[in-house]
Amino acid sequence: MTKRTIVTLPGDGIGKIVMEQALRVLDAAGFNADYIHSDIGWDLWCREGNPLPERTLELIAQHKIAIFGAITSKPNEEANAELHPDLKGKGLKYSSPIVGLRQHLGLDICVRPCRTYKGNPLNFIRRGGGNTIEEPVVDVVIFRQNTEGLYSGVEWTNPPSQVYQAFMTHPKFAGNFGNVPVEELAISTRIFTKRATTRILTAAFEYAGKNGYNSVTVCEKPNVIRETSGLMWRLAKEIQKTRFPEIKLLNTNIDAQMMWLTKNPEDYGVIVAGNMFGDIVSDAFAGLIGGLGFACSAQFSSDGIALFEPTHGSAPKYADYEVSVVNPIAMIESACMMLDYIEEKQIASNIRRAVAEVIEEGRVRTYDMMKMPGKPEVLQHGAASTVQMTDAIIARLN
Ligand code: NAI
Ligand code: MG
Repeated sequence: MTKRTIVTLPGDGIGKIVMEQALRVLDAAGFNADYIHSDIGWDLWCREGNPLPERTLELIAQHKIAIFGAITSKPNEEANAELHPDLKGKGLKYSSPIVGLRQHLGLDICVRPCRTYKGNPLNFIRRGGGNTIEEPVVDVVIFRQNTEGLYSGVEWTNPPSQVYQAFMTHPKFAGNFGNVPVEELAISTRIFTKRATTRILTAAFEYAGKNGYNSVTVCEKPNVIRETSGLMWRLAKEIQKTRFPEIKLLNTNIDAQMMWLTKNPEDYGVIVAGNMFGDIVSDAFAGLIGGLGFACSAQFSSDGIALFEPTHGSAPKYADYEVSVVNPIAMIESACMMLDYIEEKQIASNIRRAVAEVIEEGRVRTYDMMKMPGKPEVLQHGAASTVQMTDAIIARLN
């Protein structure tokens, strides 16, 4: 097999811990790569005044494939207070490097699979007929538009007069908000483009087609958010009709989807949504399959950059334990998504099988799987450490 070069971005807190474990698993599974470490995160901000240095962006752009742990973000006052004394007063402003990464590299397609592991004690259960308990199998893959919509940062408090005047040309704005003093207005915009919306929809349909899902569900709210959700729904109908007639196109509203989620999660397959609704619906489905310890993701750009990461953050409270207790599975699963992407499917499926066997057997469980608060003492109460969980997975590889 040709040797790959992978950029590793451990980041902060438990990002560093779970990255190390994922690399151990890749190694043990026989995946042969050169890893190039790259800097990102809070320590960089404190030391250099930039949590996402140019050299990191360049490395990712050069090598195209990166795996990322997690970073820490803090509010402005803390960001300023923790900055190196030499850098203070220079007008440096902190902004989240993960949002920066997505925007700089154009990582507009985010894929978040949520699949039940048999035997996971955190699996969602519900009451069935005749007082029975049912454990529906969730097999959902969420495609979230990652760079536009409500998270694109086009927003104002006390908008400048040009902006205000432009809004006043909209009859609903003038009618509903025209009497509000401008300094009392906060406005966040929701912008969708045809290009990015087409890309996320196409990615969802292609994935459904290749992976045996017979439907794609658009989860938005086109009956109310007529322009942006409406654009996505119109494009979805067109793309389905012209390119993917064999795949059914379904439509749910985000609010109803949150309700149906616990009634019939087994009825959904590929779901596609804008940035914020995609964020919401993917967290919600992740909750059904065990939460942050299990939620993995991939992000893709139009020019061939791919970045793989767990959904969880840096969990700073848990970062400095003498023996780490966090669950490495979300990071290991993210690494498997990377293997799938580079066509190392055999190694990926070997790792996934090992993870599945460890979970189903149930002898080795991290604290989250035992519903314990994540204190260091969990290790005395039968929970596995991060390393013990990884060891158990490695022991199952063949
Ligand atoms: P978080 O995801 O770091 O942690 C929330 C809680 O989830 C933790 O307290 C822990 O109970 C649990 N948890 C998370 N990962 C786990 C794992 N692998 N195993 C077991 N339990 C786990 O989110 P939080 O506390 O809101 O944010 C902490 C920091 O992370 C903040 O600075 C935030 O800005 C940053 N963050 C970074 C993200 C990223 O890098 N992609 C995403 C989310 C938050
Ligand atoms: Mg989220």
